[in-house]
Amino acid sequence: MAAADSFYIATPIFYVNDVPHIGHAYTEVASDVLARWHRQRGDDTWLLTGTDEHGEKILRTAVANGTSPKQWVDKLVAESWQPLLSTIDIANDDFIRTTDERHEATVRAFLQKLYDDGYIYAGEYSGYYCVGCEEYKQDDDLLTATDGEYKGQLVCKIHGRPVEVLKEKNYFFRMSQFQQQLLDLYEQRPDFVQPQSVRNEIVSFVSRGLEDLSISRSSFDWGIKLPWDESHVVYVWFDALLNYISATGYGTDDANFARRWPAVHLIGKDIARFHAVIWPAMLMAAGVEVPRTVFGHGWLLVNGEKMSKTKLTGIQPTQITDVFGSDAFRYYFMRAVALGQDGSFSWEDISARYQAELANGFGNLASRVVAMINRYFDGELPAAGALEPADAVIVETVKQAAVDADAAILRFAPHDALTAIWTIVERLNGYITEQEPWVLAKDAAKRERLATVLNTAAEGLRALAVLLSPVMPQSTTKLWTALGQDGRVAEQDLTTAGEWGQLAPGTRVNALEALFPRVETIEGAA
Ligand code: MSP
Repeated sequence: MAAADSFYIATPIFYVNDVPHIGHAYTEVASDVLARWHRQRGDDTWLLTGTDEHGEKILRTAVANGTSPKQWVDKLVAESWQPLLSTIDIANDDFIRTTDERHEATVRAFLQKLYDDGYIYAGEYSGYYCVGCEEYKQDDDLLTATDGEYKGQLVCKIHGRPVEVLKEKNYFFRMSQFQQQLLDLYEQRPDFVQPQSVRNEIVSFVSRGLEDLSISRSSFDWGIKLPWDESHVVYVWFDALLNYISATGYGTDDANFARRWPAVHLIGKDIARFHAVIWPAMLMAAGVEVPRTVFGHGWLLVNGEKMSKTKLTGIQPTQITDVFGSDAFRYYFMRAVALGQDGSFSWEDISARYQAELANGFGNLASRVVAMINRYFDGELPAAGALEPADAVIVETVKQAAVDADAAILRFAPHDALTAIWTIVERLNGYITEQEPWVLAKDAAKRERLATVLNTAAEGLRALAVLLSPVMPQSTTKLWTALGQDGRVAEQDLTTAGEWGQLAPGTRVNALEALFPRVETIEGAA
């Protein structure tokens, strides 16, 4: 078992049949914010992300584009999926591809172990399959289309596309054996699946009974061959789920695996069953500890529906970052959507929040305070005199915000963390308005009071820079430099961010460009 301060968080690995949209970016940002926060509070943190490259969906896409699947995935990974990480500033520690040899070797070894231990048998599968989901479907996953091009046909509820009838000789994993063990797990560890809505769905799904799972396909060959029967490739989900342990040294680097595992899985709720049912059952069969937590976040909706490429509602992350920048992208999705609930994206909403919260709220506060220290104290941070009640309110606000934000992150609520941190922005803006430093500056007798007000405001900005760094790494770096601080803001200890009096009087502040410049045109907003 990993040490108590180990924090290993993994995103799902993404299908590379197409380019990323903001739904994918949303999962990445949420995971990255949690990882950065834990890193900055001193936890032994590891963020894993990567790509899911095998299976029928990708094979068909490659064929439709006239290339081999390997050429297709190499191109998409290099041109779209890896660049996504810099577009939205993801500080991942590793990137796993299911076509990596390190992954394929682990998958073969894991399967062989399950086969040798009697958890896999040959049988015949007949039923429905949705290539969009890469999933075998039960009757209640399907409906008969009442209109549109598939009218009268059985379609997948998620993709709205016809399912295919499969009748194949397959190998099966004895998943049904794990029903009781899984129910016990959900019972004994109520936080294993979060949030509550997803947990309820999982518990009721498993309570209805589990069937054995078909884990191989023989009608195509784009996948990892079964070690004991090379006429079959591993079912793409069985292959993909193993990325979380192949990337951290299961069977190849015991020390690293012990250091990292078990993981926190942050995934979309659409794939909660795979992570909270199939995956722990696989691990139980292999005698490996189950994950720490499976957290299913909500969907980004466009026009009330899950945004997706197939439905042509996908928005590319660069459409947003080109206008607002990556910090605003990250801030917006973490603030406007409660993690665990669905949220609607709109250009109007992001524009309004950019202007009100980032440009006028945080950015303007930072520029004004830094400019006043430059103007009234020649760029040298003044020492504070005796604190008045108005100053003490700021001291207390900063302290409380830091405590509340940390607690919120630990319960997977970055939206609450931002709300807590924003109390500093709001109170400080009110404080500046009330204290009117520009009036104090006109009266030589109020010099000490002016010094106290600007020192207090600068301390508040220091705390903001540290607390906001996991969400907005770029603007907080600029602010940190403007405050004349050494080292990287991303390396500052979050656990002491709320403590007062960390800026040394006499420190030289530097000029600060606008953190959130005016946005002139909003592409795609029409
Ligand atoms: N390859 C599988 C995951 C394997 S993990 C062992 C897969 N890939 S995916 O690319 O289709 O989707 C991955 C994730 O993208 C979803 O779980 C979810 O986290 C995210 N999202 C995709 N569309 C989304 C929205 N519209 N909204 C929010 N997140 C969405 O499933």
